[in-house]
Formats: sequence, C-alpha cells, structure tokens
Amino acid sequence: MVSLNVNGRTVEVDASPGTPLLWALRDELKLTGTRYGCGVGMCGACTVHLDGEARFSCQVRIGDVEGSAITTIEGLSPDGDHPVQRAWIAEQVPQCGYCQSGQIMRAAALLSRSPKPSRQEIVDEMSANLCRCGTYSRIIRAIERAAQEG
Ligand code: FES
Ligand code: FES
Repeated sequence: MVSLNVNGRTVEVDASPGTPLLWALRDELKLTGTRYGCGVGMCGACTVHLDGEARFSCQVRIGDVEGSAITTIEGLSPDGDHPVQRAWIAEQVPQCGYCQSGQIMRAAALLSRSPKPSRQEIVDEMSANLCRCGTYSRIIRAIERAAQEG
C-alpha cells in the first residue's frame, strides 16, 4: 500500500512502490484524464505536476513520490477555468484530443514558473510533448493568450 497526495487529497493505492505513477492514476484511482501514449518517456501524454513541475508520470515510481503534491488535469482547477484551459478553448486547440491533457499540464507549469515566456521559451518547453495531429501552432498561440490574459 502506498499513500499519495493527489489533487489535494490523500489516497491509498494498493500497488507496489515500483508501480509507475501513470498506472496508479489511471487503473487504481480512475483518473483517466492523464493519458498513456508511449510508456517510455517519449511523448508527454502522461504529463502531470509533481510539486508544481511537469513530469512524465510513466517514468515516476509511486514509491518515490509519497511526499509530493501530485496534480492531474482533473485537479488543475475546480471547474476547468484555469487560464490555460480558457485559452485552449478560445484558440480551439485540440484536434483528436489525445495529447491535450499533457500539453495543458506542461503549459500550466511553464506559466507558473515563467508568467511571460518568450515564444522561443514556449517552443523549447513544449517540445517535450508530442502531438500527432500537429496542433503545435495553436498550442503556442494559446499559451501566449494565457500569458496575456492570465
Ligand atoms: S506515456 Fe509517458 S511519455 Fe509517453
Ligand atoms: S490533438 Fe491529436 S494527438 Fe494532439
């Protein structure tokens, strides 16, 4: 049994400490907004926040994050009105949507660290998250909008 702090709540996960956080979130806690893409740290679909920083949850073992604040897309804002989520809607970013929760989580972490990022900073940071639909230009516009309106 491993105790985790997820979206502000303490939860017990009936899994071994070596279980990837992504598996615990999706299979044990049913927080399926965090997506499985590659499972090997290459795509970013599984991005969550660990103590406010964007991390690939498929590459994190639950036994290593018992003391960390874990935030998933479900916990980013109480009713979906985080500035990044509002900007995502305004710019109509998603296509198929599969990668988008990971993109939003990385964008939100970027803006909390750097509220007015340059375009190059946005491009560099977001290069960790792939989108097979190629929504990259709308992602950049949405982050710029969120930085202005946030
Ligand atoms: S599923 Fe974690 S990086 Fe692809
Ligand atoms: S919107 Fe389809 S993979 Fe990104």
